[in-house]
Amino acid sequence: MEPSFPPLKNDRLLKAAVGEPVDKVPVWIMRQAGRYLPEFREFKTKHEFFEICQTPELACEITLQPIRRYPDLDASIIFSDILVIPQALGMIVEMRPGVGPVLPSPLVRPSDLDKLKYPVDVSTSLKYVMDAITLTRMKLEGRVPLIGFSGAPWTLLGYMVEGGGSKTMSKAKKWLYEHPSESKRLLNMLTVTVSDYLIAQAKAGAQLLQVFESNAEYLGPALFKEFALPCIRDIAKNVREGLKDRKPYVPMTIFAKGAHYALEELGSSGYDVVGLDWTVDPVIARQRVGPNVTLQGNLDPCALYAPPESLSAMGKDMVQKFSKSRYIANLGHGIYPDMDPEHVEVFLKAIHSV
Ligand code: CP3
Repeated sequence: MEPSFPPLKNDRLLKAAVGEPVDKVPVWIMRQAGRYLPEFREFKTKHEFFEICQTPELACEITLQPIRRYPDLDASIIFSDILVIPQALGMIVEMRPGVGPVLPSPLVRPSDLDKLKYPVDVSTSLKYVMDAITLTRMKLEGRVPLIGFSGAPWTLLGYMVEGGGSKTMSKAKKWLYEHPSESKRLLNMLTVTVSDYLIAQAKAGAQLLQVFESNAEYLGPALFKEFALPCIRDIAKNVREGLKDRKPYVPMTIFAKGAHYALEELGSSGYDVVGLDWTVDPVIARQRVGPNVTLQGNLDPCALYAPPESLSAMGKDMVQKFSKSRYIANLGHGIYPDMDPEHVEVFLKAIHSV
């Protein structure tokens, strides 16, 4: 039996995602549940990062923190991390405060692929995420929709080979140049796992699914087309197929940070929404993706440091440039930990005032 959820009261996000008219532009913030919130920092003194991810009650509580604080938020996003997929494949991932994610035993050579636990049964190894989603849908009481997410294969390969973040992704790119077919084998394992994972999230109650290709910026057009785009397309196709008999429709978003060189391809890659970072001009982005997808983004996260009046003006100006149709307001990447929570409110109100 699948759960039945409280009726949705605010459907702006879901409407905008599929191009239906909205009264106000929907707005949410990448990393909206995070360290800029004092209530999050307080929570983090008692619980470790992956402990929160793995405990549905805790993940739900953190997901709800920004929703309680900001009545203007039009979406929630489940508290988790893209690196739960490498964990499900058997890799150790630690979140070190002040450092970020560390994978102490990264993939060094192609033969290391045989050490991965594949195939992954996401319904058991990532059950805690699905449970967190179902619980959060209940606790949201229909206030706003709940977004599920996953990392995209190239971005995940990057962490699995680099052993953490990297300034250049040179180890991961070395794999692409030196071992193209083994890289594709890994990317394919990830594509299958991510597809199953997103389908399971939707079945557990996620109402929109976002795919984060955060490391797209390290690839140029050629590598992106060969190693990232095919996986991004296949994921959309697999998820659509996996959810085809289900109602309501679950829109999908692709956010490929730094992939301005591939906007046309992203616009026709099978997603309803294309997320943009702040390096792309809204008017040009619209011309390049065409009229049939929704755009999401793309205020410079640092613009939130501006004084309230200019921040508000920048938010309104952004909506004018994107127009109110087929548009979801957001930042061009995640919010920074030292942001003033009051400036977030200024930003949200500016968007809704247009
Ligand atoms: O957006 C949300 O509110 C939902 C939660 C969310 C987190 N990570 C929580 C988190 C989401 C959607 C992610 C996705 C994620 N994780 C991405 C893709 C989005 C992006 O930023 O490009 C990536 C690349 C990761 C991997 C990751 N997790 C990194 C690089 C870091 C360290 C960076 C940092 O900000 O410290 C994390 C840690 C992380 N994930 C935190 C949070 C709230 C900070 C953890 C802490 O409290 O120390």
